[in-house]
Amino acid sequence: MTARIIGTGSYVPERVVRNADLAEIVDTSDEWIVSRTGIRERRLAVEEGTSHMAAEAAKRALEDAGVKAEDLDIILLATSSPDNCFPAGACEVQAAIGAVNAVAFDISAACSGFIFGMNTVYGFMRAGIYKTGLVIGADCLSKLTDWSDRGTCVLFGDAAGAAVVRAEEGGLVHMTMGSDGVKGPVLSCVARTTGNFVNGRTPEIGYMYMDGQEVFKFAVKKVPECVNQVLQEAQVSMDEVRYFVLHQANYRIVEAAAKRLKQPMEKFPMNMDRYGNTSGATVPTLLDDLNRAGKLERGDKIVIAGFGAGLTWGAALIEW
Ligand code: UT7
Repeated sequence: MTARIIGTGSYVPERVVRNADLAEIVDTSDEWIVSRTGIRERRLAVEEGTSHMAAEAAKRALEDAGVKAEDLDIILLATSSPDNCFPAGACEVQAAIGAVNAVAFDISAACSGFIFGMNTVYGFMRAGIYKTGLVIGADCLSKLTDWSDRGTCVLFGDAAGAAVVRAEEGGLVHMTMGSDGVKGPVLSCVARTTGNFVNGRTPEIGYMYMDGQEVFKFAVKKVPECVNQVLQEAQVSMDEVRYFVLHQANYRIVEAAAKRLKQPMEKFPMNMDRYGNTSGATVPTLLDDLNRAGKLERGDKIVIAGFGAGLTWGAALIEW
């Protein structure tokens, strides 16, 4: 028994922010952003938070799957920008959709989060513990962005994507995950909860910090590495794969991965031009785009792969 995706959904805020809009607040240009990243515009949340976006994506995925919320056994929300320290965003989603029979908790693996969520639910399903699950990747990084830092503020967008997963034969065939905490400081957002009885300080939340070049170097090495590993271990050849659905951080990272894997760019769908880097939401929103455009057929082999803060990385081979 493994975990098969039987429905997908996504949610993006209405507010569109184009590169030209950002050029009005920091020293940047549409030309720089497009040529260095492939991003043209992104959606930014105005009122909605992470849990709201996640719940909306979840409702659409349940509808697509034809599954009732009360039939869910487990809800995993992958996010690094939860609305609160606690309760977990997954519990807020549970309440919003009425999934009264599910256990719900968050997974914190930043941009690798959805992959980690899929791999976790796969483990539960292989062990025969849960039958029907909901995995969501949702982030609202605009809340953690320093809007005066041109090195980061042009890159990210807000979104949520979700997949309903059922214990069936086929589906997620093989997976890998990894992390390297030593490299954590290259991509971080520090929340200082140092207040205590003695010093009386109040908690403060910082802005995200990124050493872009270090993350870039790590990504172009790790992504092809973990894709190769998953395929080799599953004894599936690169040519049998219909799509490589990679984390959408930068089109140059996707191109570099395609080159190293010696696969044509047509197999690497992208949506970062419209949404930017939406962290944990990139892979499930892209899967949902493909699904709703009728581009996925039952039996198609798809590799999903991501990397991000932690540092973390992961990949999975999925049979649609
Ligand atoms: O989701 C996972 C986390 N994120 C990532 O995967 C991001 C990985 N890194 C990247 O995608 C790229 O490193 C960036 C897009 C962040 C930066 O691209 P780059 O080609 O590595 O640029 P750079 O950092 O080497 O900067 C080149 C120049 C610098 O100016 P000087 O020193 O050459 O004068 C930067 O100050 O571009 C400057 N720059 C900008 N210029 C205009 C940096 N950001 C901007 C900007 N607009 N927004």
